[in-house]
Order: sequence, then C-alpha cells, then structure tokens
Amino acid sequence: METMLNKVFIAKINELPERLGRTVTIGEKELAVFKLADGEIRVIENRCPHKGGVLAEGMVSGEHVFCPMHDWKISVVDGQVQEPDVGCVQTFEVETVDDRVYVIM
Ligand code: FES
Repeated sequence: METMLNKVFIAKINELPERLGRTVTIGEKELAVFKLADGEIRVIENRCPHKGGVLAEGMVSGEHVFCPMHDWKISVVDGQVQEPDVGCVQTFEVETVDDRVYVIM
C-alpha cells in the first residue's frame, strides 16, 4: 500500500464492486469503502456505533448502508445514523486520480 502525505491509495475504481462494501485497513483504522450505483465512492469507519457491526458487510441502498447485525440505517455520505436510531460514524474524504482511489486520512 503506497502512502503520499496523508493520501493513501485504497483501490482502483474497477476493482471496487458496485453497491457492495469492501474492508480496507490503514494502520490501526478499519475503513468501509463503498461504490454507489452512481459510481460515487464513499468511505466511512467500518464499525457500527451500536455494537460494532462490520459495516462493509452491510446491504447498500442508495446512499445508505444497513448494518448486518441489527439493521441500523447509516448514511455513507455524512455518517449519520438514521431515525429512530441515533449516532454517527466517521467519514473520510476520497480523491480519485485517473482510475486510482485515495482516501485522505
Ligand atoms: S451493531 Fe449495528 S445495528 Fe447493532
């Protein structure tokens, strides 16, 4: 894995499956990477704020992921847990250069 300043290469765009999560570990942090149906790439923390479900394994619908453990609905855009549940996960900025996807840490 190559590092440029705080910009870390995570994958090539065509390696990311659409509407499925992918777990990427950078140092001590586990990230959930999603390629949405419109091709947008979103990166959030890979731990549900409820009981630590692995969000990369959740179902993706539009701009939300459903936690595989108890189905909390979480925005992959701003990290907010949707009502009636509350909480949020960290989100990370993504940069795409040609076909390469980087996350800004
Ligand atoms: S751990 Fe995610 S909803 Fe419970």
